[in-house]
Amino acid sequence: MKARATIHRDFKVGAIDERIYSGFLEHLGRAVYGGIYEPSHPSAGAGGFRKDVLDLVGKLRLPLIRYPGGNFVSAYNWEDGIGPREKRPVRLDLAWRTRETNEIGIDEFASWCDAAGTQMMLAVNLGTRGHDAALSLLEYCNHPDGTYWSDLRRRNGSEKPYGVKVWCLGNEMDGVWQIGHKTAHEYGRLANEIGRAMKAFDSKLELVACGSTHSQMKTYPAWEVEVLEECYETVDYISLHSYFENYEGDYLNHIAKPIVMDRYIHTVGGAIDFVKAKLRLKKDLYISFDEWNVWYHQRRQDHTNFKSWDWPVAPPLCEETYNFEDALVVGCVMNTFIRRCDRVKIACIAQLVNVIAPIMTETGGRAWRQTIYYPFLLGSLYGRGEAMQVALDAPTYDAAAANDVPYLDIAAVHDPGARTIAIFAINRHPREPLDLAIDLAGFPKTQLIEHILLHHVDLNAVNTAEAPETVKPSSQDATLVEDGELRSQLRPASYNVIRISL
Ligand code: AHR
Repeated sequence: MKARATIHRDFKVGAIDERIYSGFLEHLGRAVYGGIYEPSHPSAGAGGFRKDVLDLVGKLRLPLIRYPGGNFVSAYNWEDGIGPREKRPVRLDLAWRTRETNEIGIDEFASWCDAAGTQMMLAVNLGTRGHDAALSLLEYCNHPDGTYWSDLRRRNGSEKPYGVKVWCLGNEMDGVWQIGHKTAHEYGRLANEIGRAMKAFDSKLELVACGSTHSQMKTYPAWEVEVLEECYETVDYISLHSYFENYEGDYLNHIAKPIVMDRYIHTVGGAIDFVKAKLRLKKDLYISFDEWNVWYHQRRQDHTNFKSWDWPVAPPLCEETYNFEDALVVGCVMNTFIRRCDRVKIACIAQLVNVIAPIMTETGGRAWRQTIYYPFLLGSLYGRGEAMQVALDAPTYDAAAANDVPYLDIAAVHDPGARTIAIFAINRHPREPLDLAIDLAGFPKTQLIEHILLHHVDLNAVNTAEAPETVKPSSQDATLVEDGELRSQLRPASYNVIRISL
């Protein structure tokens, strides 16, 4: 198989917002309790946080972490998680039928984010609560001092405000499973009212309104239009979510599904433009893709199990074991965010630890990287700068999810500061290698830095506590850059990062 591409120095998509490399942590299963927080673990440091986990999280260079949910947030009282721990109430979490001990709340999470080198992106409860809870949380987090909530934060040990910039107005409010589910009109009005009040506190806040939970929702894409007709002027982003499934066990279809996500972004972009035109507005509005991942290995069993269990504390839930095939899908999703950087400004892999996560832990034991950790890591490390347009001529196939799927998924990022180009290339073909030629038109003095390969002959290969390095990146000697042209051979079913210096 052969593919040709051209990347021209002057043809850019735009600047990539580094917040597309963000994450998500929910009070769900063993994500927080037994994931990031385990005071009895041998590696636990200050505050009971696992240092081995912090180390793996830190390497991902996540600009934001969305917290505390997810479905959890829609019946959460944030005040339960502040102040002396012995006085914090234990509550029922109605989203996942578990018991929430409230040992970790906003102050502990803020200190964990400091240690992890990241910032909080907070969701407010628009399910069971409204203005009061959202505004008091905002004041608690962001006001310096001299008021009831800010002084309470200081008494609780955080002298300085947290300065949380990005706020989600609820979670998946279009879903009937969501506590406090609303119609588009009801939600749009509420988001507008609460958003206006939050911006009265600080007009520089960035607010995210809920879009559709996925592109198969009955209300999609009218939901986006109706919601934005109410709150376009107040909010800054509309949020989208996508979880990729492969119940049918069809590799070529699974790996074509990020193209469906691409259309989803395209359509919601159209809805944004429609409302902008209808309301005669100048302001632009962007997409926050604040939950995405592969999720199906354990999904159906878990959804049956949790509905009948007896309110356990932090039980294992949604603990997916990801295989190599899933890592390729994650690579294609990340390429999509790079190519769509004109629309998508924030994206959060969902989630981060134990729950549908790139990082897994054993209680009292080891922590390791799942297969999907690597495309996320490599994207985050080398995918910052300007997204370049890639003119591509590659063979294609038809799948149930989409037609004309190119066997080559490619994105290119130019970092003018570092004077480098990173090319992210996935050969989707399960059996055939791909000969790739790229004309680096107009880029002077190009030189190969390295070719990083993520590959395993078995698409079902997984990393486990016993064999944590079954799938991991290696250095590849299959690329030549000469006279402004790159030539490479990509292995069948492989994820590649080719780095070039200028
Ligand atoms: O990430 C797991 C769940 O998926 C979240 O709680 C919810 O927002 C989504 O449906």
